[in-house]
Amino acid sequence: MAKNDTTLYLYELAWMLPSVALPVGMLAALLVTAFGAHIHLPGQSMTIDAAQIDTTAPFDQPGIVNVGPGRYEARIIAAIWTFNPAELRVPEGSEVTFVGTSRDVIHGLFLPGADVNVMLIPGQVTRITTRFPKAGEYPFVCHEYCGIAHHTMAGKIIVEPLK
Ligand code: CUA
Repeated sequence: MAKNDTTLYLYELAWMLPSVALPVGMLAALLVTAFGAHIHLPGQSMTIDAAQIDTTAPFDQPGIVNVGPGRYEARIIAAIWTFNPAELRVPEGSEVTFVGTSRDVIHGLFLPGADVNVMLIPGQVTRITTRFPKAGEYPFVCHEYCGIAHHTMAGKIIVEPLK
């Protein structure tokens, strides 16, 4: 090979290796975060008949349910223009799984203090788990436009200090 050929070959290699290594690295990062760290998009966990919410578990008992030591389930039904319930209480340090759905149109559940940002869709059940390490009040709002009183649709989590 002439000197010029070798240089060209090295240039090509310098482009080809990263173009293979980068996607392989990204795929590895995706697999590690998805399966190792369990980081994934909050999604639909099951479907229900939106017309039968009040008789369908777990929405036949909306509110906070203790499901284990320090673990709670917050069952929330969104409807124009309220959350049922709009106020929930859990002790400091709790791990809370929000299980939500909508009675009518698409609503949202945005709880900035605890990294919760999901959609509540009629017929679908949304599930997302978070923690409340510090006592205080954590307001949440509907962040999907759902009609004339959308801006009034809000609630709060009250995290009570351990005595
Ligand atoms: Cu419900 Cu906006």
